[in-house]
Amino acid sequence: MISLPHLSAIAAVAVLAVAMAVETPVADEGAASAMVSPDGTIEMTTQDYQRDWTMLGIFARLDENGVEQFNVVYTQPETVTAYRETGEFPEGAVIIKELRQGVTAAEGGDKVSSLGVLKGWFTLIKPPMSNAPQGPLWGDGWGWAKFDADAPDATITRNYRTECVECHSPVKDTDFIHVEGYPLLRN
Ligand code: HEC
Repeated sequence: MISLPHLSAIAAVAVLAVAMAVETPVADEGAASAMVSPDGTIEMTTQDYQRDWTMLGIFARLDENGVEQFNVVYTQPETVTAYRETGEFPEGAVIIKELRQGVTAAEGGDKVSSLGVLKGWFTLIKPPMSNAPQGPLWGDGWGWAKFDADAPDATITRNYRTECVECHSPVKDTDFIHVEGYPLLRN
């Protein structure tokens, strides 16, 4: 006959085991929560993401004046690990698209472009599903915000529904993220 204290201990172990089994990966949530105010406003991260995070990919295009523009995309290493395990972006994931003007120079017979002046950032934050912040920057599974380079603590995005989501709907099936551009997430 097992005494009651033993039973509850066994039950506690069982509950713990279930909790561990269903635990979903969470990214470095500190970075995400530090960007969000209680009223749902979003600030640019103060983390040294270029040094400490993972670069997912680069997109290059020519603007209307023929000047090369680079979009460089970063996320936390934990987000890469979780995505590769589950195929989903974990709570606390932050994706930063840095906007840089290119600098093009002649090199031998070639023209070579490199990353120049920082113009701003687009950011996406994956909130806790059970407790997502409210407001016009939040919805479709993310917090959405754009920043000019000289004002990282004041987003210029007023409403993600009119300013962001339409352009991202073609990649709705991959959680609105352009995963095709990121070899690390494709493999
Ligand atoms: C004109 C269409 C368009 C609009 C508007 C737009 N995006 Fe994007 N976004 C893209 C495309 C296309 C990419 C893929 C990378 C690239 O081509 O620069 C992208 C990539 C991103 C990325 C990198 C993650 C990914 O999806 O691959 C972030 C972060 C992002 N956008 C945030 C935003 C936010 C926040 C807004 C609103 C403030 C916004 N975007 C509005 C088209 C758009």
